[in-house]
Amino acid sequence: SAIAVIIVAAGSGTRLGHAEPKAFVPLGSGTVLSTAVDSVLGMRETPRLVLVVPSERVESTLAGFAAVAEASSTSIDVVAGGESRQESVAAGLAVLPADVDTVLVHDAARALAPALLFDEVVGAVRARRRGIVPALAVVDTVKRVSDDGHVLETVDRSELRAVQTPQGFPRASLAHAYATVQGDFTDDAALVASAGLVVDTVPGDVRAFKITVPADLHRAEQLVAESAG
Ligand code: CTP
Ligand code: MG
Repeated sequence: SAIAVIIVAAGSGTRLGHAEPKAFVPLGSGTVLSTAVDSVLGMRETPRLVLVVPSERVESTLAGFAAVAEASSTSIDVVAGGESRQESVAAGLAVLPADVDTVLVHDAARALAPALLFDEVVGAVRARRRGIVPALAVVDTVKRVSDDGHVLETVDRSELRAVQTPQGFPRASLAHAYATVQGDFTDDAALVASAGLVVDTVPGDVRAFKITVPADLHRAEQLVAESAG
């Protein structure tokens, strides 16, 4: 029973505002994407790896990771993404090898998510046989606000969670959800839940934050520098 990790890296990174697509922006001695791949290669069990990148980057990404794949005895597939994150995940799902029964979907932009978080998600998917998302408590007070900016109410944050990736699923659940559900969802857990399937949480990790704006990249650079020194 093999694991696959799909890393979606086909976005343009509009909010980061860099000349390169976000996953190809330099980070530490590599890129955002290569940092994410390093975490996956640190997993306890070697997964099949599928990288979903902008179509014009497929060839160069395949070439760029060939040595890593060889050295780590990891199968690394590279495919072109789509217009939306959901389409990019679907492109990755379409090339999964037959022996895969557990699938993790991960944002390249969460480059510093530790290998241990991947292992924990895999363990929980196998133990509970359902979708698993890493989740963190919301620390700020959250308010519902009207269109014109008036505070309407304070939301009870005790039941709110900010969710991250990697999100893991039994392959059949994720494939079923992608094959049947219509509409646009912001994460895979929402898509799977809308197919009527139960999704559970495990504790998230602050290092799995998403690099979205320039300040996030700055923070990532600092964390990489600290762990190198
Ligand atoms: N992603 C993708 N294909 C898309 C859109 C997004 O593979 N068509 C990936 C991104 O590469 C990223 C993850 O989904 O790793 C989360 O998306 P986000 O942080 O929104 O990245 P971008 O869409 O690239 O950034 P922005 O929204 O600022 O343009
Ligand atoms: Mg986006």
